[in-house]
Amino acid sequence: MKELIRSLVEATGPSGYETQVRELVQTSITGLADEVKVDALGNLIARKGKLKEGGKRVMLSAHMDEIGLIATFVDDNGFIRFTANGGVFPVYLLGSRVRFLNGVEGVIGAESNNLRDQAPAMDKCFIDVGAKDRLGCPVSVGDMAVFVRPYLDLGDRLVSKALDDRVGVAILVEALKQLQDTPNELYFVFSTQEEVGTRGAITAAYAVDPELGIALDVTKTGDTPKCDKMEVTLGKGPTVKVRDSGMLSDPRVVRWMRKTAEKAGIPYQLEVLEAGSTDARSIQVTRAGVPVGVISIPCRYVHSPSEMVDYQDVVNSVKLLVALLSERIVLEQQ
Ligand code: CO
Ligand code: ZN
Repeated sequence: MKELIRSLVEATGPSGYETQVRELVQTSITGLADEVKVDALGNLIARKGKLKEGGKRVMLSAHMDEIGLIATFVDDNGFIRFTANGGVFPVYLLGSRVRFLNGVEGVIGAESNNLRDQAPAMDKCFIDVGAKDRLGCPVSVGDMAVFVRPYLDLGDRLVSKALDDRVGVAILVEALKQLQDTPNELYFVFSTQEEVGTRGAITAAYAVDPELGIALDVTKTGDTPKCDKMEVTLGKGPTVKVRDSGMLSDPRVVRWMRKTAEKAGIPYQLEVLEAGSTDARSIQVTRAGVPVGVISIPCRYVHSPSEMVDYQDVVNSVKLLVALLSERIVLEQQ
């Protein structure tokens, strides 16, 4: 699975411009689904199985887009001003390198060239692509860029600028590969525009009209020196989300996920995330409402150019997802 993860994280796919990632996913799921569609927002929707006695229509979602920057202004000297496309933290900007969709690369500088220990605000930063003036600048207003940082395979730990959420994408692809027979009708949604407000999942959920929804996405951890308290640790298994700032998981879904993990002997952690949300939020409030849950992959340094996950957590996420979807789904009251 590592090769799939590497190719996915190295692709360029800022929100709204997910074509490169979508093409990679399309190639890697060839022959695995019964039906594959791309909707108007660019979501890739792959169906596996047809509803059988006692089965459910289930939507699974992992987003293809990554956070990035958008050019807002090019000055007379060819310096590019920008704003965020998704949740970019100013603290990671200075000294970072970016790549525009047209392949042009540049570095980020700040107005004060004397900064040592404070992070400059985003509107005090600019991108320098080596242009000498406005006319010679190969970037126009509206062009999108993502962060550039080489992918690192540290053995058990993997590092990249886009593990959020290409690792979720890889897990869905692998689960689709491993799933044999299922009484359920499964819709694997590789969604768009999550980082700008889970927008792709809104239209996909409306179209699929699921009876149950599960998002696969990364979550923060509480396992680095003196960080905020949080009961999630890299390497201790995928998490079953209980709550984040945009959604309360359906308690019946939480119970089903926990019971399934325990029965199959798959390690898992319980997650309460204080800030952030996922595609599950959009699925939950679509149409007349849908019970949802989330399987999260613990990730250090989320939304930095060097996000880190544990490979065994990835493998166990696939195991849990396959165990959940292979059988008849019974949601019991707590
Ligand atoms: Co994110
Ligand atoms: Zn995400």
